[in-house]
Amino acid sequence: MAEHAEHAPSAAPAYPVGLRLAGRRVVVLGAGQVAQRRLPALLAAGADVLLISPSATPSVEAMAEAGELRWERRRYREGDLEGAWYALITTDDDQANQTASAEAEARRVWAVRSDDAAAASAWTPATGRSEGVTVAVLTGQDPRRSAAVRDAIVEGLRDGSLTAPHYRARPGGVGRVALVGGGPGDPDLITVRGRRLLAEADVVIADRLGPRDLLDELPPHVQVIDAAKIPYGRFMAQEAINNALIEHARAGKAVVRLKGGDPYVFGRGMEEAQALAEQGIPCTVVPGISSSVSVPGAAGIPVTHRGVSHEFTVVSGHVPPDDPRSLVDWQALAALRGTLVLLMSVANIGAIAATLIRHGRSAGTPVAVIQEGTTAAQRRLDATLETVGERVAAEGIRPPAVIVIGDVVTVGPETGR
Ligand SMILES: C[S@@+](CC[C@H](N)C(=O)[O-])C[C@H]1O[C@@H](n2cnc3c(N)ncnc32)[C@H](O)[C@@H]1O
Repeated sequence: MAEHAEHAPSAAPAYPVGLRLAGRRVVVLGAGQVAQRRLPALLAAGADVLLISPSATPSVEAMAEAGELRWERRRYREGDLEGAWYALITTDDDQANQTASAEAEARRVWAVRSDDAAAASAWTPATGRSEGVTVAVLTGQDPRRSAAVRDAIVEGLRDGSLTAPHYRARPGGVGRVALVGGGPGDPDLITVRGRRLLAEADVVIADRLGPRDLLDELPPHVQVIDAAKIPYGRFMAQEAINNALIEHARAGKAVVRLKGGDPYVFGRGMEEAQALAEQGIPCTVVPGISSSVSVPGAAGIPVTHRGVSHEFTVVSGHVPPDDPRSLVDWQALAALRGTLVLLMSVANIGAIAATLIRHGRSAGTPVAVIQEGTTAAQRRLDATLETVGERVAAEGIRPPAVIVIGDVVTVGPETGR
């Protein structure tokens, strides 16, 4: 009686533990859907799996054929749990399940039962993995809730909405740097990976453009540095930023260099990646949604459209067309029929438009200027190549703005303009 009372199913919560099963015997009784779902994790843990079942699903059969487990094609017999550390009882025979359960109890083998959780000595948690973290959730006897909680945690870890910094020192004491493309400005337009790395950062060096709102969400211990304010004295501004990245990484920090749009589209991302590589500092590059396509899109302008434009060219207009430093062939661009997307061109748009007209692009070509695209302050100005210089000045358009030149500007619904 006392023995029975000691082992009776109770409402007490389960005690969570991580079993290290490598090389240890695990006996699986039955080879249906439950076994099929559980076996991959047991095999991944290195368990020495003995499967006992007269038949198996095709995937379980494939595991046996591949030599990943030993399969005895027969029904359960008393004594099968000898030498086992752990058992999975999943047959469709109630009597066999009960006998196996009693044998497990007698041999002190922890056993999971698919037919009667309350009668089992162990429960399988809902598990998931993200970046080396195993999440295991037990809610007593509500597996759906366990799975839902697991999904919420794993999803949160993946997208960074659940903050989980790495507290253990990184190997070799050197930190890591991620060059993260933050997208055009709307905080929802950063990638899932970028957001997660941001949530794990110790130091964030941010540009003026990009999703600045995300910086407010960072916990107080995170050091946020405005890239524009890094003092550069005898260095160029870019060198000073590179040096700051190197210095924080050498201090063992997880550093995120948060950039607007994509790091490699007029973003100097490669200069930073090269500077880090020269110092042997690991660097990950996370692509971002470039303003060159997303800002026109947010304003209702497709950069290509069937029957209208089969190409789009992204150009920096940060120096005027007649400036000897310009690497742009404006004459060749004027000869193109497709869409031109200009970045960093607000100050020079008058001169650029005049140059394009002079080289043959029609003065009536539609032009749209989108300031602060994807943010609450987004505004759009419509003009033509002939009028855009004057209109931009008259309307007080300020950077950042993307300028789209071409017939795609007028294909969207009138309401977008
Ligand atoms: C130095 S470039 C960086 C571009 C960025 N790497 C990208 O892929 O979008 C900065 C220029 O991008 C454009 N830009 C970036 N974000 C913008 C936004 N939200 N709205 C309008 N233009 C934007 C402007 O032309 C700005 O002058």
